[in-house]
Amino acid sequence: MKETLLKTFKNSSKTYTQHALIQQKMQDILLQKFKSYTNTSHFQEILELGCGIGLFSHKIANHFSFKHFIALDIVDFSEYFNQTSIEFHSVDIEDFKRIKNFYQDIKNDLIVSNAVLQWINQESFFQHLPSIANTNCYLLIGVFGEKNFLEFQELFGISLNYLNPQKYQKILEKDWNILEITQSLETLTFKTPLDVFKHIKNTGTNALHSIQITKNHLKHYALKFENKLTYSPLYILAQKK
Ligand SMILES: C[S@@+](CC[C@H](N)C(=O)[O-])C[C@H]1O[C@@H](n2cnc3c(N)ncnc32)[C@H](O)[C@@H]1O
Repeated sequence: MKETLLKTFKNSSKTYTQHALIQQKMQDILLQKFKSYTNTSHFQEILELGCGIGLFSHKIANHFSFKHFIALDIVDFSEYFNQTSIEFHSVDIEDFKRIKNFYQDIKNDLIVSNAVLQWINQESFFQHLPSIANTNCYLLIGVFGEKNFLEFQELFGISLNYLNPQKYQKILEKDWNILEITQSLETLTFKTPLDVFKHIKNTGTNALHSIQITKNHLKHYALKFENKLTYSPLYILAQKK
């Protein structure tokens, strides 16, 4: 899956901004929500996990001042960070050994990630996360929840590692004070079923399906789902104990 994901997200870099509208809305909602919990405007160390071409990174950098901001993605998107004060590294965010190498004794004060964690083993990831977070470190996460792309779950029986709010609560509560976990639904409607699949490709999410799309699939999709595609954004705000 990681091999495919590397290709699909790299290939979508030129179309991502125009098509990944839900992901960008999630970034804005996360920032809005965060502001209702803290008026902290400076962080010593900021870490972003799965930054893509840096759309969320730039919003974070515009909102907050920082001493040091590291952004990581499995795909080498370094060219998008060349002219910025953000330090980019191409790293698998499940590789905590490598992530820890960037820091020595320093830990983070703000950790952010949007529209990424459904691609990884979240249970194991959240076990390691406290080891790179300072006490009082804020955690700001947008991720896709259980009903995400439910049309694909129904039609092809495929889905990613989607979790529900209760599961996140359980995973996080030992090490984090949870400020908020909320889930919502967003539906996009397309003109044709083919446009749904094009949209998925343009946002890099086509690593999700290795299946060959047939005319029959398209017909079924139009009949059953009226060319709609459901997103289920889930927002997590927490502070390290
Ligand atoms: C939907 S994009 C989100 C990009 C950005 N965070 C945003 O809000 O627009 C998902 C990103 O996660 C990255 N990603 C997925 N799995 C990863 C992993 N194991 N390690 C690092 N990055 C990963 C992909 O390469 C892609 O750039």
